[in-house]
Amino acid sequence: MGYQSFQTSEQLLQSFFRISNLITTPLSFDDMLQKILDEVVDTMGFHRGIICLLDEDKKNLVTKVVKNYTPVEVKRAFSINLNLERHDCLETRIVKTGGYIALEDSESDPRVTDLDRKITSFYQRGSTFYAALLIEGETAGMISLWSKEKSKFAPEEVDIFLTFANQISVVIHIAELFEDNRNKIKKLLMLQEAVSQLNASYNLDKMHEITINSALKIGNADKALMYFLDVENNSYLISDGKNIYTDKENEYYPVIAKSIIRKAIDSETIIIQNHNVDHHVPPLFEGYPAEIAIPLKIKDKFKGALYLSKKLGTYSRDQRNLLDILIINAATSYDSAIMHSMLSLEAKTLKSEIEVLKERENKLLGFHNIIGNSQKMLDIFHIIEGVAGHDTSILIQGESGTGKELIARAIHRQSNRKKKRFVDVNCAAIPGTLLESELFGYEAGAFTDARKRKTGLLEYASGGTILLDEIGEMSLSIQAKFLRMLEDGYIRRLGGTENIPIDVRFIFSTNRDLNRMVSEGSFREDLFYRISVVPIHIPPLRERSEDIVILAYHYIDEFNKKFNKRVKGFSSKGEETLKQYVWPGNVRELKNIIERVMIMQDVKSVIAPEDFPAEIKKAAPQAFEMEIGQNISFDASHSINYKNLTESLANKVKDRILRKALELHKGNKTAAARQLGISRYTLIRELKKVGNHRESFDIDP
Ligand SMILES: Nc1ncnc2c1ncn2[C@@H]1O[C@H](COP(=O)(O)OP(=O)(O)OP(=O)(O)O)[C@@H](O)[C@H]1O
Ligand SMILES: [Mg+2]
Repeated sequence: MGYQSFQTSEQLLQSFFRISNLITTPLSFDDMLQKILDEVVDTMGFHRGIICLLDEDKKNLVTKVVKNYTPVEVKRAFSINLNLERHDCLETRIVKTGGYIALEDSESDPRVTDLDRKITSFYQRGSTFYAALLIEGETAGMISLWSKEKSKFAPEEVDIFLTFANQISVVIHIAELFEDNRNKIKKLLMLQEAVSQLNASYNLDKMHEITINSALKIGNADKALMYFLDVENNSYLISDGKNIYTDKENEYYPVIAKSIIRKAIDSETIIIQNHNVDHHVPPLFEGYPAEIAIPLKIKDKFKGALYLSKKLGTYSRDQRNLLDILIINAATSYDSAIMHSMLSLEAKTLKSEIEVLKERENKLLGFHNIIGNSQKMLDIFHIIEGVAGHDTSILIQGESGTGKELIARAIHRQSNRKKKRFVDVNCAAIPGTLLESELFGYEAGAFTDARKRKTGLLEYASGGTILLDEIGEMSLSIQAKFLRMLEDGYIRRLGGTENIPIDVRFIFSTNRDLNRMVSEGSFREDLFYRISVVPIHIPPLRERSEDIVILAYHYIDEFNKKFNKRVKGFSSKGEETLKQYVWPGNVRELKNIIERVMIMQDVKSVIAPEDFPAEIKKAAPQAFEMEIGQNISFDASHSINYKNLTESLANKVKDRILRKALELHKGNKTAAARQLGISRYTLIRELKKVGNHRESFDIDP
């Protein structure tokens, strides 16, 4: 080879021109270098060539492109990085001096080192030209060109080679600037993408993944960790983008304390370390010595760091800045995610609190506003649910004030007749003959006062439900007519002939003992069986003391609203007193008592035993029954509620007299009343009163 082999200077110019033009082609940096090397080797008549560039640390020479290397040589060239300090060879010398070497006879030139000979076998023959690639006065790398033949390098040739080297440097420089910008833009886009993803997510796991994945890309790193220290709870969270470890028992925890992660958190500055250079602590991941840790802080609650490491290279200022921006953004997003999760946790607890309140309300309001949580009441609710939908007759029995009417209405509301009428007929309040015409109606002229036709309640209730309250008070003659109507399914108005079909659901209620009335002959047995298809017995309040308190609180709420008070409830003794009283008037009485107490209640927010009326206050645990004619025996240590005791005894006597009279007159109240010298209504009222009065009273020990 020789100057002659460059062919004409015009060809040389064309070659320079082609190299300069490469800059404007849309090639990657490596492809461009390859083209340059191809051009130089071919134009200058060399047989092979290589371009190496310094890495970011300016410590190692990294092979960029080769020309005409065998596959084995290619592999070797790319796997060995020549270290400027440790490797003494022509390549490193060139880079260190920034000059050139023209090796006319590779075999015998004394400048060839042992390492050179080890690296390649070229040195056994031929000639080589080395030149440093200088960018702005600093060495960026080197080019070496080899020819099979030994040759003399004329000064003009050297000039031309150096001109090529210069031109290559310029192209590399410009390309590097381009590449740098491209990378910067790419990384900025990555950052932007990561930040918008972070902002869109409230899921911490997802956020770790986003942060770690973009950090790996921005830092060109191989390994990443997010490390969190929950300052308040003194707990740890380590995430490698796949797994999250929360306690101390994980593979990272022990080494983290000694790593740059700790240092970064403590100093609140970015720490970069390369263990190849600073050997004091082994890297977190063996074989990945180039580490960086960027601290992050979320309020005063969380501290942490993002950690990255890689096998080779370092972290440029740009990368550092981008990672810092990423972490600042991540911290803000983590903060709002943590806030979000705390809020949703709070929302959840609020929700469950609401559920508890609702449950309480359900308990309080019970079934169709029937309050009761005792098993007995729950069983009744169950029966109602079962029968409401059918048209079966229902007989509700229970003492006065136990809620018979309430339950009858609930059955109606629960049935598919709920949109139709609920008609409540109190048999005790309407005297015999009147009751008949009220129920069945009459035609005009049916009797003296019947000027025009009247529709009976049975007709009026058509499609709906009729409650025959106090059915025990229905006279035997009406009972007979009523039974016929039930069996036939139609009625005839008084004085009428037309059969009018009846579509009504019947509910009967009474506080009388119908069984006993049947045996006494004051109630028809056949009617009794007919109406008591589904019997519901509402137990008196004293038999379900758990309901007493629930009801009492319910009425407190009600009267707080009504009287605009703020009574909170009862003292525990107050509750006890409520439970010990026998409540002869049941829920109605309880309601009245609470109302009375609340009207009186001034500022006190808790009702205590002394706030109750005397009869309730006196309620004491040991109630006992006393039979008439029995010897009264009590000792000086007992205090006696005289009023209660005598009232109860009087009622008992009244009860016996009334019943006896009724018995004698086969249940005919008018006759019984006449015998007793009282009105029929007084008799009924008295019966009701004494029938409900418990023959029990209380003695204070
Ligand atoms: N379980 C209950 N829950 C809520 N309120 C109730 C309950 N039981 C009864 N009451 C209330 O008690 C009062 C009396 O109820 P209701 O009129 O239904 O009783 P009753 O058994 O029909 O009494 P009577 O035999 O005197 O006619 C009403 O104000 C009713 O709302
Ligand atoms: Mg009633």
